[in-house]
Amino acid sequence: MKSTTLDTAHPLSDGRTSAAPLVQALRGERPGRTPVWFMRQAGRSLPEYLEVRQGVTMLDSCLRPPLAAEITLQPVRRHRVDAAIFFSDIVVPLRLAGVGVDIVPGVGPVMDQPYRTAADVDRLVSRPLTDEALEPIREAVALTVTGLTELASANGDEWVTPLIGFGGAPFTLAAYLVEGRPSRDHLAARTLMHADPETWQRLVDWTADLTGAFLRAQVSAGASAVQLFDSWAGSLSLADYTAHVAGASTRALRHVAGAGVPAIHFGTGTGHLLPAMRSVLVDAGMTDHAVGVDYRTPLDEAAALLPGVPLQGNVDPALLAAPWPVLEAHVRDVVRRGLAAPGHVVNLGHGVPPETDPTVLTRVVELVHSL
Ligand code: CP3
Repeated sequence: MKSTTLDTAHPLSDGRTSAAPLVQALRGERPGRTPVWFMRQAGRSLPEYLEVRQGVTMLDSCLRPPLAAEITLQPVRRHRVDAAIFFSDIVVPLRLAGVGVDIVPGVGPVMDQPYRTAADVDRLVSRPLTDEALEPIREAVALTVTGLTELASANGDEWVTPLIGFGGAPFTLAAYLVEGRPSRDHLAARTLMHADPETWQRLVDWTADLTGAFLRAQVSAGASAVQLFDSWAGSLSLADYTAHVAGASTRALRHVAGAGVPAIHFGTGTGHLLPAMRSVLVDAGMTDHAVGVDYRTPLDEAAALLPGVPLQGNVDPALLAAPWPVLEAHVRDVVRRGLAAPGHVVNLGHGVPPETDPTVLTRVVELVHSL
């Protein structure tokens, strides 16, 4: 496995992002203001996003570096969030490895076929993701970091907003591959891990290295933190997670462990998995790390399960559409409960719903910064 160390011009090495509230909170400190960003902050809630996406498919927009950089910057300009999240998708590395995948609007990732048998998996693992194929990713990240640096000097900010790189965790990617499309219970994936554990292992080792290479490209090009999305891990029992999934997630993160960037590990419905998800970060050697908590587990309860660990979360996305006083009380409650952790990054318990009024998101940012 290739490892990453940051060069001296990286924004985390040259000091541009090291004093940013996001980086400090992920290091377990309490910066002057509580950092806040939103999963899916770039996207359909923004009119400027809908405008630049006209006539361009989702995956094509991810692979046009100037467009991906522009979309990544839009929510930072508008909401003044404390992090940019790279505009891409967890299935982009599959496409770059030559796997037939599309993102169907309103549905999600759909594969050219389900990958369920040993022969299907053989065909997949014969396709490595090369560094050359990742060039559009490195280019988009570098353009984004330049844009963030310019934005900071235009605003007279003391630090540059950090860019978070991300990847899909091996289980969540494998769930799409085995099912062939989005599913609720991931039955076929869970069947495969028990029916043919050897094939399952080869599959998740491959998705781990795919995401690892995707993360490495983003970190080497200028991302100051990473987030591993295991959105569907909540469908697993703790025993299955530990035996069949955690090792592959550790393997994915090891690709960037040497770089010293902070890492966030997020899933939904994972209240029963939080300590195991934390162990993945530790086993991978991610020295500075946080666990993302969805809206189902109050942060003070999560903090009791994860003593000494910074947390990210967990405003309920449903409340973004509630009257402001209801949302305000909820955000205040989230921030108060978050004090139980050594560091807290405010976020949603899952992504921004497409129909969200963007002015509400800006108001949440202002509220969190004022507390
Ligand atoms: O702003 C950001 O968060 C950065 C970009 C980002 C996207 N996808 C863009 C996107 C990130 C971090 C992701 C991760 C992702 N993609 C996950 C993990 C996070 C989660 O939501 O649980 C998952 C499971 C996927 C797979 C995926 N891609 C789904 C389920 C969908 C939604 C399908 C739909 O149309 O509702 C996508 C498409 C997608 N990825 C969109 C965006 C902005 C919507 C596409 C569009 O605008 O046309």
